[in-house]
Amino acid sequence: MSPSPLNKRKTKAYFDDLIVQLEPTYLCNLKCIMCAHTYRDKVHGDIQPYMKLSLFKKILNEIVDFCLSNSVSVNTLQLFWYGEPLLHPDIVEMIEYAVVLNQQYNLFKMIKIDTNFIPISHSQIRRIVEICEEYRDNSLRFSFSLDAISPQTYQKIRGGDFNRAMSNIMYLIKMKESYHALSPFMTFQFIIHPFNYNETKGFVDYWMEILRRLKTRTKGNAIYLRKLVYLKQALNHTEKETVKIHQNCIKGANFDSIVEDHFRLIIDRAELTPRQTSGKREPCGSLWKNPSIASNGDLTFCCKDEMLRFKLGNLKHNTFSELWDGKLINELRMAQINGDFNEPEICRDCSGHMFIKISPSEIATYINTVKS
Ligand SMILES: C[S@@+](CC[C@H](N)C(=O)[O-])C[C@H]1O[C@@H](n2cnc3c(N)ncnc32)[C@H](O)[C@@H]1O
Ligand code: SF4
Repeated sequence: MSPSPLNKRKTKAYFDDLIVQLEPTYLCNLKCIMCAHTYRDKVHGDIQPYMKLSLFKKILNEIVDFCLSNSVSVNTLQLFWYGEPLLHPDIVEMIEYAVVLNQQYNLFKMIKIDTNFIPISHSQIRRIVEICEEYRDNSLRFSFSLDAISPQTYQKIRGGDFNRAMSNIMYLIKMKESYHALSPFMTFQFIIHPFNYNETKGFVDYWMEILRRLKTRTKGNAIYLRKLVYLKQALNHTEKETVKIHQNCIKGANFDSIVEDHFRLIIDRAELTPRQTSGKREPCGSLWKNPSIASNGDLTFCCKDEMLRFKLGNLKHNTFSELWDGKLINELRMAQINGDFNEPEICRDCSGHMFIKISPSEIATYINTVKS
């Protein structure tokens, strides 16, 4: 089964790039304290927990079709959403399929997997490096969600086996070195939190030293200091208090003592801002750019729609183009353009509508495209 660009009607892109979330599984081996898994065992409710490999391939093919028909590309293909993707028994085949498709069509700027990197074997790690070499990939990236440099802090925040995560990462580095592999690229991620902010500098120093010592090509590997996203049910305080806590953590992390290196250290310096209560609200770019696909094939337009209450449909029964360019989503887009954020309810109450932006010129092109 391979993509076949059926629909050549539209040739004008009305937005820059997609950020696609395609979830192999919503299950997780951990219950990190800031994550939805702490307050709900079944993050999406009672749905099929593992995406079938055949459905995964169908969806990716249809995303390629959609991109070719609409002259857009995928900025980031995220092979995760709410769960731990490496728990999927076919994860290596899924990665291979995405890499091969990208070699053929060159439409995914980045194929990104956020992971705790615990449920993976050495033979799977080796095979992934081999795949990257075989297809001369330069798009696959693992983002290791670590949030700590000591087992004690890791235990408090992530509650998992720190040593296992670290030894798997070290094995990947060893394999990359022995194959002189460019990809998979690596990001070492640290979400700043009240339990870990005093480890920020230690984390940066440790991974920076590893990156400096890497014999293999180090371009593209990075340390990412990221801000905590407010999740009402997981954090035991109000949104306003969260902003204060975040500001204190940033102060305590003492960023000024950390030397920023534009190639290898990315610091999310933006402070959390409280909900916007006045002024003109702009349409949310997610409705155009951020399809989020759950393990059962449900497609929604908001990455915060964890219970899939606002799904556009299911990709077992419809194609990606039918849903992402369908009547329902286009009505929602037009409502936001006209300043109506009342429906659906998830948009009415949202404070995160600034995450993914859509520019006035993109909206103008969109309006012209739907009219024609
Ligand atoms: C839900 S996880 C799924 C992938 C994988 N299990 C992992 O931990 O990387 C996706 C990303 O969300 C991050 N995350 C979880 N809760 C968060 C929060 N409250 N604020 C910001 N990022 C969060 C995780 O650290 C991870 O980078
Ligand atoms: S490992 Fe990832 S999905 Fe699992 S609980 Fe932690 S942040 Fe959430």
